[in-house]
Amino acid sequence: MKFTVAIDGPAAAGKGTIGRAVAAHFGFAHLDTGLLYRAVGMRALEDGRGILDPHWAATIARRLRPEDLEVPGLRSAVAGRAASKVAALPEVRKALLKFQRDFARREGGAVLDGRDIGTVICPEAEVKLFVTASDEVRAERRWRELGGDYEAVLADVRARDRRDSERAAAPMRMAADALLLDTSDLTIDAAVAEAVAHVQSRFDAVRDRP
Ligand code: CDP
Repeated sequence: MKFTVAIDGPAAAGKGTIGRAVAAHFGFAHLDTGLLYRAVGMRALEDGRGILDPHWAATIARRLRPEDLEVPGLRSAVAGRAASKVAALPEVRKALLKFQRDFARREGGAVLDGRDIGTVICPEAEVKLFVTASDEVRAERRWRELGGDYEAVLADVRARDRRDSERAAAPMRMAADALLLDTSDLTIDAAVAEAVAHVQSRFDAVRDRP
């Protein structure tokens, strides 16, 4: 059975944590699509050319291998910034589209988290969640994860959100049929419980469909 859970939302909103927990609960496969852009961004940064040359960045994206997602440092702020730069390039997004679409519609269920999953990658997803939290809460979570200067982390999160939502190619947007999950005042367990309950209700509805 094909069953896609699309989780979108701004930086450090908790999409990954919720996505992993939902996938584990239902036995679905999980893809953190941010890692694809982070891997392309890091490669582009390393060779210097991809950040300036959209064709080369797209070539890097087409050549991406599963082991490239295991490279250390992909969760860093540097990788996040590089990711949001290459993610604004339509050619790069195009190069990564089929892999994500195929993953979403694989048999046995899939959870994908990112920015454009419910709007562009899989508009037919059975469940769409838009996970968010206040800028300050998100920056604090990221700061606890990565350390550094809190004000700099906050500025970084805001700059990335702006770039992600204002770009022309697949901007970050909440799909009209998505459930908004604001995790500002929720514990991880409470946020996961809400997400699981929503997915369960959609799963039951799809399964019972004649
Ligand atoms: O973990 P965090 O929410 O900070 O970021 P991420 O999900 O790893 O994504 C890193 C960057 O990749 C984002 O700021 C976006 O620019 C880009 N991205 C995207 O454009 N589309 C996606 N589906 C996922 C990530």
